[in-house]
Amino acid sequence: MSTSIATSHTATPHKGLPPGPKGTWIGGNLSQIGPRRVDFFLMLAQTYGPIASFRAGRWRLFLVSDPELIQQVLVTDARSYIKHFGARTFKPVLGNGLVTSEGDFWLTQRRLLQPAFLKTQVLSYAPVMAELTEAMLAKWVPGTSVDIAFEFSALTSAIALKTLFGLDDHGDRVRVDESLRLTFELLTHRLDSLFQVPLVFPTPANLRLKRAIADVNAVIDGFIAQKQAAPPGNDLLSTMIAAQREDGTQMTAQQLRDEAMTLYLAGHETTALTLTWSWYLLSQHPDVEQKLVAEWQRVLGGRAARASDLSALTYTAAVINEAMRLYPPVYVIGREATTDLELGGYRVKKGYTILMSQWVNHRDPKYFPEPERFLPERWLDGLASRLPKFAYYPFGGGQRLCIGVHFALMEAAIVLATVGQQFKFTLAPDAVIDIMPQITMPPKYGMPATLTRR
Ligand code: HEM
Repeated sequence: MSTSIATSHTATPHKGLPPGPKGTWIGGNLSQIGPRRVDFFLMLAQTYGPIASFRAGRWRLFLVSDPELIQQVLVTDARSYIKHFGARTFKPVLGNGLVTSEGDFWLTQRRLLQPAFLKTQVLSYAPVMAELTEAMLAKWVPGTSVDIAFEFSALTSAIALKTLFGLDDHGDRVRVDESLRLTFELLTHRLDSLFQVPLVFPTPANLRLKRAIADVNAVIDGFIAQKQAAPPGNDLLSTMIAAQREDGTQMTAQQLRDEAMTLYLAGHETTALTLTWSWYLLSQHPDVEQKLVAEWQRVLGGRAARASDLSALTYTAAVINEAMRLYPPVYVIGREATTDLELGGYRVKKGYTILMSQWVNHRDPKYFPEPERFLPERWLDGLASRLPKFAYYPFGGGQRLCIGVHFALMEAAIVLATVGQQFKFTLAPDAVIDIMPQITMPPKYGMPATLTRR
């Protein structure tokens, strides 16, 4: 972004809407949003300032890009908002799990699951993360071609299955991942449509979606049944099953499935994308890759990374931060007002949606000079502690902060260092790399590359 996002705060609410592009009577600005919706968000912030307004069909939306205003939505006024319609669109598959639930119900579940994600607990997952990474590397053949996105998605989903559910990957994972991919494609399409036919009507699109969801559910139910048949372990799914046994009203079979599905999904795709985009950026910046390899040689000397190495892998952490700045796996979050209130001098009416886009904030030159440049060094002199709270927020913030933040950062560092010491990737010369913003942001055409042993 060439222009910074200005701040504007006024005490008395304006009568009208914040500035924004003119739209049509029925669709509003839908036709301008387009498949690369992050471009539209960036244009809004650059053209209309820190609080911009637009309409998508029947939804009135504000895009808020001033860190202080974002803090007001996610922290100060958090109780006056719920997740927005975009998040709710994914309820058919995520059910009432931690990402989509609200109020007291959400809080009870968050308290139940939180201990498994504390930093101390997460450290105990490090050996499994390294072991499964080594197992993947043992199968790689130098000189062959792989899809980086596919490989890291398979790895992080195997890690999620083992660390969160104590289950080994017996091939069911591939089935659930395929069905999930289809489900999300269909749900994203549904989200983008002007008219959504309720799921109870048997249209061809609805039937396809329902079949894909049923398939995902069957596999997840299989995971749970497998676990229920085994002696309780020290994993999250065992904890959830135990909670269900003690208080049947708290964790019903449906609730167990919803939380398991939510954690499985939220717990692997995002980290896989962090790794995928990191390797893409490294393939374009050999100088950065060289510095990384030097750090790994110095700290690890060829062995897999352990939890105790993390504090010494400072450049690795900077590369991960910078990759998530340029390619935030979650590039937008949204909230819907449950009451009339004020934001940035404007009136937010009940039912309005507030969007906050990491893609936009992470490209603000006020905080990140030369924002499009991949420059891990910018993180080395304490930048993170100098930034306002919501200038950089790949994991969101406030009470709905990502529960998996320690898990994800540790996993990304361990996998990056363990892989990078043994292999390097050369992108296929004819590879077309583009983003495909859905609920997360995978590369549109995958990421084909040749493996070389380092
Ligand atoms: C680089 C990796 C990851 C990124 C960028 C990421 C990003 C996010 C963001 C932005 C949110 C907040 C959404 C909102 O406010 O609307 C969130 C919530 C969540 N994330 Fe993550 N996440 C990552 C990894 C993980 C992992 C590894 C897990 C679990 C193992 C996880 C589980 C969750 C859950 C359960 C929530 C909902 C929390 C709540 O509302 O209480 N995430 N994540």
